[in-house]
Amino acid sequence: MYDFKADETASAEERYRQLGQAASALIEGESDTVANMANIAALLWEFIPRMNWAGFYRVIDGELVLGPFAGRPACIRIPMGQGVCGAAAASGTTQLVEDVHAFPGHIACDAVTQSELVVPVIRDGKVIAVIDCDSPEPARFSSDDAAGLEALATIIAPFI
Ligand code: SME
Repeated sequence: MYDFKADETASAEERYRQLGQAASALIEGESDTVANMANIAALLWEFIPRMNWAGFYRVIDGELVLGPFAGRPACIRIPMGQGVCGAAAASGTTQLVEDVHAFPGHIACDAVTQSELVVPVIRDGKVIAVIDCDSPEPARFSSDDAAGLEALATIIAPFI
């Protein structure tokens, strides 16, 4: 049985450290990328409060395709460069969006989403996927969340 639980009293930095440890414990030694992304999506949901969606889009043949996630059904394909996810994938940089309605080209998969954080997963210099986190709270994500997810992206890059 896996019983990874977030320490609700911990700082964001400590929480992301624990998330990284749990991720490593689950995916190191496992070669199935779908299983690994599914477990990471579950950990994101467990460790990061106040979200309505968390998961992966993978870069496949030059577009983003939905991967394992937690939350409601979502848009399946996103062209490179479009929306927050497409911007992160095309630029290879984290997109921290306090108000999705102010982001040009934001793709609304769920009308409740108010803020979003998308971090690219880079392997051998190429963006292979993005981690997408959505919240119903405006400005839910901070630079601590961005740094925490960037560290997680580095940990998981060889395993997804
Ligand atoms: N809002 C994203 C689309 C993906 S969903 O939020 C799950 C975007 O603008 O790229």
